[in-house]
Amino acid sequence: MGKRLESTMAWIDDRFPATKMWEEHLSKYYAPKNFNFWYYFGSLALLVLVIQIVTGIFLTMNYKPDGDLAFRSVEYIMRDVNWGWLIRYMHSTGASAFFVVVYLHMFRGLMYGSYKKPRELVWIFGMLIYLALMAEAFMGYLLPWGQMSYWGAQVIISLFGAIPFGIGDSITLWLKGDYIISDATLNRFFALHVIAVPLILVFLVIAHIIALHEVGSNNPDGVDIKKLKNEEGIPLDGIPFHPYYTVKDIVGVGVFLIVFFAVVFFAPEMGGYFLEHANFEPADPLKTPEHIAPVWYFTPFYAILRAVPDKLGGVIAMGAAIVVLFFLPWIDRNGVRSIRYRSLPYKINLTLFAVSFVVLGYFGMQAPTPVGTFVSQVCSLIYFGFFVALFFISRSEKTKPVPARVTH
Ligand code: HEM
Repeated sequence: MGKRLESTMAWIDDRFPATKMWEEHLSKYYAPKNFNFWYYFGSLALLVLVIQIVTGIFLTMNYKPDGDLAFRSVEYIMRDVNWGWLIRYMHSTGASAFFVVVYLHMFRGLMYGSYKKPRELVWIFGMLIYLALMAEAFMGYLLPWGQMSYWGAQVIISLFGAIPFGIGDSITLWLKGDYIISDATLNRFFALHVIAVPLILVFLVIAHIIALHEVGSNNPDGVDIKKLKNEEGIPLDGIPFHPYYTVKDIVGVGVFLIVFFAVVFFAPEMGGYFLEHANFEPADPLKTPEHIAPVWYFTPFYAILRAVPDKLGGVIAMGAAIVVLFFLPWIDRNGVRSIRYRSLPYKINLTLFAVSFVVLGYFGMQAPTPVGTFVSQVCSLIYFGFFVALFFISRSEKTKPVPARVTH
């Protein structure tokens, strides 16, 4: 470091803990040396968050949150604003990319038992992020004011109407700010999507990372690297996050951006999965689309909703499917973290869970058929069965011995 830079840093450090924070979170944050492919997705989630915020700011400069103007303002962005198409497609593709990345990130947590002691709060902050992300995506989807924006919101908001004793009706009225989804609804969704929920998200992500760095990262072996340290107090299996993992993460960023922009440039609608066909028609409160389905990342839960014949029961099941994930650290009672050292029944249980989630996602996208409903019912049972089975398997399962040091 040059002399001048050094004295500038010293000046700053006397007033703000810049170097201290850099060391604590990067150059002297010792992460396990055996991170694998699955450990890319945390930093990629951060990247997508930044992409969404930056492209969102530029979209807001030309978007009009007005029932009469919203749809056309999006068309205007696509056709007339310089680079508007790129900004909009990056934002719409970013929404799906966010869920791809977060689902893989969560699955890593499941496989390696990253939710277990002492990382329960890392997991809970993660689940709160997931809830906020779903709210953010749902409200963002209303903004283009297309047919699917309108009717999708109609279906989801009306779910609250299933709550009995008139409470549900009051809630739906309160959410909409009108008797139907209208300009008032669009305005409040805009406010929440553009400022309220992003603020909450950013706050939660910071809390998530602070909690993680307090206890240290888990790893594919689930070994506690803090148990074995050298004479300087540095974990034997730890390496400084910077430069080792900053470099690794940059490779992940490079590969991710290639795939991301391939989609943005060549398949931004992704055959109707990222941007649904019906959304290229302006919202019409008098014309219901033939088939209303949420975007793919909501469909596993939508399938659970439809699998239950009773509306209130469906809403409860859908809510429970998300809420139960919060309790995972206490449902899984086994001390062994990583799937590598767990029993066959555990592995089968987790595989069935993942398969049921994907199958539910598929049937949630399709128009309801008797076969689809039956398969969704079976998969809903498997989904919830995973947690019940885990509770019992984890108590008495025969695990393999966990090594003292990480393996390669
Ligand atoms: C905006 C969304 C999110 C961001 C930016 C984010 C960011 C991160 C980062 C940077 C890490 C450290 C690097 C890594 O382990 O990959 C991490 C770890 C972790 N995250 Fe997230 N995360 C997000 C959402 C979630 C969600 C939804 C969950 C689960 C419900 C979750 C659970 C975890 C867990 C358990 C760890 C510790 C993993 C380990 O040490 O093995 N995160 N997160």
